[in-house]
Amino acid sequence: MAILYLPVPHSSIEISNKLHPTVRLNSICPYFTMFPLTFPYSLLKEAKKKDLIFDPFCGRGTTNYAARLRGLSSYGIDSNPVAHAIAQAKLVEVKPREVAALCRDILLHTSSKRHPKGEFWEWAYHCETLNDICKLRQYFNSKTRLNRIDIALRALCLGILHGPLMKTEPSYLSNQMPRTFATKPDYSVRFWETRNLEPRYVNVLSLVKRKAEYIFNDQLPKKSKGKIILSDSRRLTGIPEEKFDWIITSPPYFGMVTYEQDQWLRNWFLGGLDSVHYPNPQQIKHGSEGSFKEDIAKVWKNVAKRSKSNAKMVIRFGALPSLSQKTPTELIKESLQLSDVGWKIDTIRRAGKANPQHRQANQFKNSPGGYIEEIDVYAVLKN
Ligand SMILES: C[S@@+](CC[C@H](N)C(=O)[O-])C[C@H]1O[C@@H](n2cnc3c(N)ncnc32)[C@H](O)[C@@H]1O
Repeated sequence: MAILYLPVPHSSIEISNKLHPTVRLNSICPYFTMFPLTFPYSLLKEAKKKDLIFDPFCGRGTTNYAARLRGLSSYGIDSNPVAHAIAQAKLVEVKPREVAALCRDILLHTSSKRHPKGEFWEWAYHCETLNDICKLRQYFNSKTRLNRIDIALRALCLGILHGPLMKTEPSYLSNQMPRTFATKPDYSVRFWETRNLEPRYVNVLSLVKRKAEYIFNDQLPKKSKGKIILSDSRRLTGIPEEKFDWIITSPPYFGMVTYEQDQWLRNWFLGGLDSVHYPNPQQIKHGSEGSFKEDIAKVWKNVAKRSKSNAKMVIRFGALPSLSQKTPTELIKESLQLSDVGWKIDTIRRAGKANPQHRQANQFKNSPGGYIEEIDVYAVLKN
């Protein structure tokens, strides 16, 4: 089946500044090492109507959104709360007015008890804007179960929490950020101080309204079935009994250990600390190639248990050459062998060849270690 929901040329989905309405939800919040929507979307052209899709390292939920565009059910797991919160929003259906009404309600009726203190916060946000952000944070973190409107508003807030200053209407709540990711507090303060950049007041409700109209527009694809789970894929709990037909995924690139610290501000919004916090035991270990391979192998093994015979798995992967003795091809081949469950490699290709300027690894242009070799591995489950 090939329902073409994307009435824009395939390659321009994420390139143009103005995204087509059908794909705007996918860009609700940036996330590091996200792969382009075109990657899972084109693979799923081959999927059948009833196929079930899975991504055990779903990040911002790109695979899940591609599945939705194709009208397919999907599941995703990620152990990073920021990734989980963004990906959850990819599966919801809401009206912009519902999102704006919830935001208005929260700002009117919630009192924010705790405000983060210190130089970083004084420079990062205007005090009234920060007060409203704290009310929203308080609301989300005091609820045990979020409904679809909560999920949509929370992801939207994560997306506007920080970013560059615009000359026209503000698109972000923060002062001008030095980078697209959340830079460390001392570095950010120096950046603002030396440029004398005072934070300006941003009206949270009007920005939320504007963004909600843009993202949750009436051309979004129909909601498809599925779930995003905050968990560790080495354990794979909480997913349905139904078996998977397709796995499209991208494990952490070997040596890329900054996923969480680069998202510290968004993590704070989700209830985390108001400073940069590093360790999360639920993340794949990068200590040595051996432990990394073993961890990834556990995931391939678990995924196999929950997949149909002949299920297809496509893995996009890379490694920092300075940290890795082995090539990405060797690392993935060995991890699949180690899983010992019947994943047979069909093809290995260099990733992003057709469109080198939009490679996933480009998001790490400034990482130590230089150019990252990136591959796509196609495997089939023969058990
Ligand atoms: C390369 S990113 C995936 C990006 C995704 N393809 C996208 O488009 O957003 C790898 C993801 O693996 C997640 N991760 C690391 N260890 C994990 C684990 N043990 N279980 C589940 N997810 C994990 C990281 O949090 C990160 O979001």
